[in-house]
This record gives sequence, structure tokens and C-alpha cells, in this order.
Amino acid sequence: MEESTAMPPRDPGRAGELRIAPSVLSADFGLLAEQVGEVAPSADWLHVDVMDGHFVPNVTIGPPVVASLRRHTPLFFDCHLMMTEPERYLQSFADAGADGCTVHVEIGHTDELIAQMRSLGLRAGLALNPDTPFEAVQPYLGDIDLVLCMTVFPGFGGQSFIADVMGKVAQVRAAVEAGSLPLDIEVDGGIDTTTAPDAVTAGANVLVAGSAIFGQPQPWEAADAIRASARAASGQG
Ligand code: DX5
Ligand code: ZN
Repeated sequence: MEESTAMPPRDPGRAGELRIAPSVLSADFGLLAEQVGEVAPSADWLHVDVMDGHFVPNVTIGPPVVASLRRHTPLFFDCHLMMTEPERYLQSFADAGADGCTVHVEIGHTDELIAQMRSLGLRAGLALNPDTPFEAVQPYLGDIDLVLCMTVFPGFGGQSFIADVMGKVAQVRAAVEAGSLPLDIEVDGGIDTTTAPDAVTAGANVLVAGSAIFGQPQPWEAADAIRASARAASGQG
């Protein structure tokens, strides 16, 4: 589509560097472009939560909203597809201006989904629910760009961080280091200035936050505060 090809490619940044990814799930959908514009100077990526009413009970947004937002911001779009059949929509997300798509390992046919994302020129991510073990993603680590460890059960914003997931984050980080893999490790759910340091200490480098950013009166300050807390924990201070 004209909108996506008219803009220069968005740079995801270097694998492993700290990134803050505000989740639009907690934004006011009636003021989406305005709110994204406000937070953009303090954001590295924009996290777009897509829920299909099947993989999760909730329904959110789809490719038309991504295409509309694309016209308003040059931010890297990190699309989290909480869907049972993402293969039916990946092309539409790519056309709409998505930069990376992340699908869940729990739905299976992972090899085909990675190949499809690659063929569309998308950065490829795999997500794991809190109770899905590291071993589910291990065979694919050399073929993807991002592992998303859910720190809440997907479906809704504003839930509490599940600290038990940090053991799995550390397993992914150990595998990335052992293999010198160019991989980002993302956490999503209940991230704020208190939990971001724990996530970074365990090995995460992409921090998604919805309510802790868009739920605040000054979202950009909230994003900066999460970045500062994460930097302090990573010794970059
Ligand atoms: C949950 C979504 C998250 C959500 C996080 O299913 O995948 O991205 O927006 O929201 P908070 O930060 O409020 O937990
Ligand atoms: Zn998400």
C-alpha cells in the first residue's frame, strides 16, 4: 500500500539494546494518533496488541488501524498477534505498515509462520504464555528476531506481573549468550518502574508497558521513568 512504501524503513535498533515499547492497548482509541505522538519521543517501538476473540477472549484492533496509525508516526510497529490463525492476516499487517509481528508458539505450525513472516519482510517474533516452557521456543531461536515472554496471561491490560516468568527469561538470555544470537528478549504485562528492573536483571531488553504508560496523565514521563529504572538495573545508569 502507498502509505507503507512511501516511508523509509523503520530501524528496529541493535539486537539486545534496551527498548521501551508502549502498548497502545491502554491508550484512548479515540485519540490514538495524538496519544502516540505524545509518547513517541520517549518510545523506541510501539507495541500493537491484536486480539481475535479466539486465542484470547478479547477483541481489539486489526490492520486498518495499523494502516491509519502508520500515516501519523515513524515509530517501529511491534505487532503482537494474539490470534489462532495469524497466517490469514500477516500479509494485511505487512501491507498496513507493521515492522515486526510476533505469533504465539502455543498455536503450532511455527515453522510455516516464521517462513511466512520472513517472506513478507517482517521481523519475526515468537511469544510464550506464562505457563509455556522455554523448550517450546528453543528449536527456533536461530530463526527468529525476538522472543516475547508474557508476564501476564494475554487478553487484558492492567494485570499483575508474574515474577515466576523471570526464570524463563534467564533461560532465553543464557541461550542467546551461548549462541551469540542476534535476538531481542521482550517482556509484556505488568511492567512498571518496580518490575522493569527485575525483567532487565533476568535478561529482558524490550519492555512493553500499557497501563503504566498510557494510563498515566503524562505518558512520556512514565515511559522515561521506566527507561531510567531499567537502565539503573542494567548498570547503564
Ligand atoms: C496483554 C497485552 C499487553 C498489555 C500489557 O494481553 O499483550 O501488551 O497491553 O498491558 P499492561 O502493561 O497494562 O500489563
Ligand atoms: Zn502485547
